[in-house]
Amino acid sequence: MRQRLIAGNWKMHKLIGELEPYFKSFAQEAGLERDEGLSDRVGILFAVPYTMLARAAEVGQALGLRIAAQNVHAEAQGAFTGEVSLGMLREVEVTATLIGHSERRQYFGESDAAVAKKTQAALDGGFLAICCVGETLAEREAGRTEVVVRTQLQGILDVAASRRDQQRNLVIAYEPVWAIGTGRSATAAQAQEVHAMIRGELCAKLGASSADSLRILYGGSASPSNITELLAQADIDGALVGGASLKAADFAKMVLAADRRP
Ligand code: PGA
Repeated sequence: MRQRLIAGNWKMHKLIGELEPYFKSFAQEAGLERDEGLSDRVGILFAVPYTMLARAAEVGQALGLRIAAQNVHAEAQGAFTGEVSLGMLREVEVTATLIGHSERRQYFGESDAAVAKKTQAALDGGFLAICCVGETLAEREAGRTEVVVRTQLQGILDVAASRRDQQRNLVIAYEPVWAIGTGRSATAAQAQEVHAMIRGELCAKLGASSADSLRILYGGSASPSNITELLAQADIDGALVGGASLKAADFAKMVLAADRRP
């Protein structure tokens, strides 16, 4: 059974001072501090802004929360003004990162090749690499969803295929761009259709046992009201949550929903 993963993506929101009150209230709402707290059926992760990573890792550790960066540079060091390396993340006890979020692709020109390079560096560095793929509305309407997602996956899976030992640290997040931040989530059936295709690609490139154990998250207006239906789909193993992760009570509801099995 794959462990579900509910991952919050805070994007460019919140300040360091908001971190502890948020975690405190989240822990309370999700019952993390109770003895009979959450089962190990669900993992919880927060991708927070760089400035609060160190503090988040410190506070999060005690609560069993994993902290991730929202982006990373593929090189170990060098003249890359404004960038942050894996080593710098590791120094503040962060060993997970998002890679290739559609906002990085759209606003910062990240190509599939750059995403593959980052994935390679992250897997080689022993990081959990949450790699994002997804089509735009125009691409969906043109019937190109499958070809777009397959193309985005190619470099990521080529990297993973040559790294048997690190493959387990790969997570794929399917995030249709038209559903992100719009309040218009993909339906559970639409999401499942693409997730099943992604699972098929994992199987073709990495083999059946990896395909069976790797997690595929859905992202795009996931919320307390649709999470249960999304998670009921065979190939949806969790969610990457933007807006709804900013409110501790909402995010806790999603985690609790993921901890319940039908
Ligand atoms: P959203 O964002 O939940 O606000 O749609 C998801 C994401 O961009 O990861």
